[in-house]
Amino acid sequence: MRKKTLHQAAGLTWTMFARDPQRSSQVIDTNEYLIIAPDNVVMMDPGGTEIFPPVVAAVSEVIAVDRVKTFVCSHQDPDIMSSLPLWMGLCPGARVLMPWLWTGFVAHFGHEYAARFVPVPDEGTTIPLGGGLKDLVLVPAHYCHSSGNFSLYDPNARILFTGDIGAALLPEGSEELVVADFASHVKYMEGFHRRWMPSNEAKNQWVARVRKLDVKTLCPQHGAVMEGPDVARFLDWLEGLQVGGALEAGRAAGASRR
Ligand SMILES: [Fe+2]
Ligand SMILES: [Fe+2]
Repeated sequence: MRKKTLHQAAGLTWTMFARDPQRSSQVIDTNEYLIIAPDNVVMMDPGGTEIFPPVVAAVSEVIAVDRVKTFVCSHQDPDIMSSLPLWMGLCPGARVLMPWLWTGFVAHFGHEYAARFVPVPDEGTTIPLGGGLKDLVLVPAHYCHSSGNFSLYDPNARILFTGDIGAALLPEGSEELVVADFASHVKYMEGFHRRWMPSNEAKNQWVARVRKLDVKTLCPQHGAVMEGPDVARFLDWLEGLQVGGALEAGRAAGASRR
C-alpha cells in the first residue's frame, strides 16, 4: 500500500493511503486518510473489509493503530466502511461519526458497536483536534452521491476530503496520487460523476458551499488528489456537468415498453 504525507505542520499530519498492489481487480481502488493531531487521531473512510489488512499494516507504520480515537464515515457504502467492525475490535476506545441517516442500517454490521456511533445531524458538526488548532468541520454533501453524506474540511491544512465527489476511476496500475494534468484527468472522473451523482441541484449546492471555503487540496476517496489551481478547475468542471445519467436509461426502457 502506498502512503503520502499531504500536510505536516504545527502538530498536525495528514497521511493518504492508496493503491494496494494485492487488491483484486474486482475491488474498486480506494484512498484512506489519517489525521494525527495533538488531542485526536482521525481516520476518514476506513475502507472495505477486502483491504483491511494492508490498510492496518500501512497505518501501523505511521502510528499505533489503537491510538485512532475517531473514525469518520462520509456515507454508508461497503467501500467506505465495511471494515468498521474489524477496526472497532482493534480500537476499543474509538467513536464513529457517520450521517444520522445511516446509523440504523450500519448497525447491521454488528449492533454491539452501535453504542459507539455518533450520529451527525444533516447540518454537520465539528471535530476538535486540540493544540490550539481549529476544529475539523463536517460539511453537508447530501445526495452527492449518498442521501446522507458529508465532506470533511480542515481549515488548518486547508484540505477538503470529498468522499466520492472528485472520484476518478484510474487505469489499473496507475501510480498517480496527485493529478498532474487536470485536462487529461477529466476522462477518468466524468463517467463516475454522471452515473453516481443523482442530482444537479445537490451537486451545485455543494459546489457553492465549497467555494466559500479556502481549499488548497481536494482529497477524493477514489483516484487522485487535486491541488492548487486544480481545485477551482474541478469545481468549475463539476458545476457544468449534467449528472443523473441513469435517468436516460430509465426513459429509454419506459419508451421501449410502450
Ligand atoms: Fe459511495
Ligand atoms: Fe466510494
